[in-house]
Amino acid sequence: MPPFILGIETSCDDTSASVVEGTIVRSNVTANQEIHKEFGGVVPELASRAHQQNIVPVIEAAIRRANIRKNQLAAVAFTQGPGLLGSLLVGSSFAKSFALAMEIPLIEVDHMQAHILAHFLEDPQNQRPLPSFPFVCLTVSGGHTQIVLVRDYFDMEVLGQTIDDAAGEAFDKSAKILGLPYPGGPIIDKLAAGGDPVRFSFSRPNIPALDYSFSGLKTSILYFIRDELKKDPAFIEENKRDLCASIQATIVEILMGKLKLAVEEIRDTRYAIPDHGSRIVDVAIAGGVSANSALRKALLETADKEGWNAFIPQFEYTTDNAAMIAVAGYFKFLKGDFTKQSAISYARSRW
Ligand code: KG4
Ligand code: ZN
Repeated sequence: MPPFILGIETSCDDTSASVVEGTIVRSNVTANQEIHKEFGGVVPELASRAHQQNIVPVIEAAIRRANIRKNQLAAVAFTQGPGLLGSLLVGSSFAKSFALAMEIPLIEVDHMQAHILAHFLEDPQNQRPLPSFPFVCLTVSGGHTQIVLVRDYFDMEVLGQTIDDAAGEAFDKSAKILGLPYPGGPIIDKLAAGGDPVRFSFSRPNIPALDYSFSGLKTSILYFIRDELKKDPAFIEENKRDLCASIQATIVEILMGKLKLAVEEIRDTRYAIPDHGSRIVDVAIAGGVSANSALRKALLETADKEGWNAFIPQFEYTTDNAAMIAVAGYFKFLKGDFTKQSAISYARSRW
C-alpha cells in the first residue's frame, strides 16, 4: 500500500492542505484569502495572519476528508520556498511541530518543482498518460515564468525565465489597468471568450535566447488605454471583451514562441540529453496561468503541428494547491530524502 503523505502549502495567499496516497489525491482543501481583493493584490502581512487563522481548520478538514486518522500519515511535506516569507513560516512551523509530535519524517518541497510534479497526480476515475522524462515544462504563475528541462523528478534545469514580470503578473497588471479586480488572470480569460483577439495590437518583447520579458507589454497597454480614454472616456467599457482577448492572445503568443524555440534548441542538441537522441516530444505547462483556456488551446494546436505530446495539469492542480506539495513529498519519501527541524524557508527561487 502506498504511504499517506500530508502536504501543506502556504507560499502566497492560499492556505492549502492535502492528503495523498502515493500519487492519488485523497483530499485537497484550500482556503482562499478574500481579504486581498480590496487591495488589488496580495498584502504580505494580511496573508500571514490569514494563514494563521486558516491552517488548523484546513489541515483538520484535509485529514477528515481523506477518511484517515492522523497516525496513519507516513510523513508531512511543506513548501519551503519560494514565496512570501511570513506566509511560508506559518506552513513550515506547523509542519515541523506536526512531524515532531507525530514522530514522522519532515519533507521540504520547492514550490516551482511541485507545480511541475502536479502532472504526476493520478485520478483512478480518469486515467491519463503521464509525461515521460526528459520533458520540457513551461511553468507560468503569478511570481514565475520559466522554461524547465525536466530530466527526472528532482533533476530540473531552468533554460529560460522572465527578466522582469511573470506571465501571471502580466495578466493581473493588465486587468488592473482595465479596472478589473485581483486576480485578473481568470477574469481576463472569461471576458476574452467573447472578444476579438486580433482587434488590438500591443508591443512584443525582443529578448535574446529563451528568456521572457513582460514589463514592456504592460507599459504599451497602459499608454494605449490612456490615449484612448482621452478620446472616449467609455473606451474600456465599450471594448472590454476585445481588449481582454487581444491582451490574452499577445501573452499566449509570447509564451508559446519561446517554448517552441526551447524544444527546437533541445532537438538541436544544445542541451544534450544522454541516451535520448535529444528528441524531446513531451511538452507540458504548469502553474496558475496554465489554467488559461487560450494557452491550453495554443499548446494543443502547436503540439499537433510539431508532433509533441502535450500535457496540461488537471484544472484544480494548476493554481496553488497542497496536492502538488504532497505528491512531491511522496517522491522524496521514496528516496528517503527527509529534512531537519532546522530547515529554513527561502523567499527567492533557488534555481
Ligand atoms: O500558481 P499560482 O496560483 O500562484 C503563484 O505561484 O504565483 O498562480 C497565480 C497566477 C495569478 O497571476 C493569476 O492571475 C493567474 O495565475 N491565473 C490565470 C488564470 N488562472 C489563474 N491567468 C490567466 N488565465 C487564467 N485562467
Ligand atoms: Zn504557485
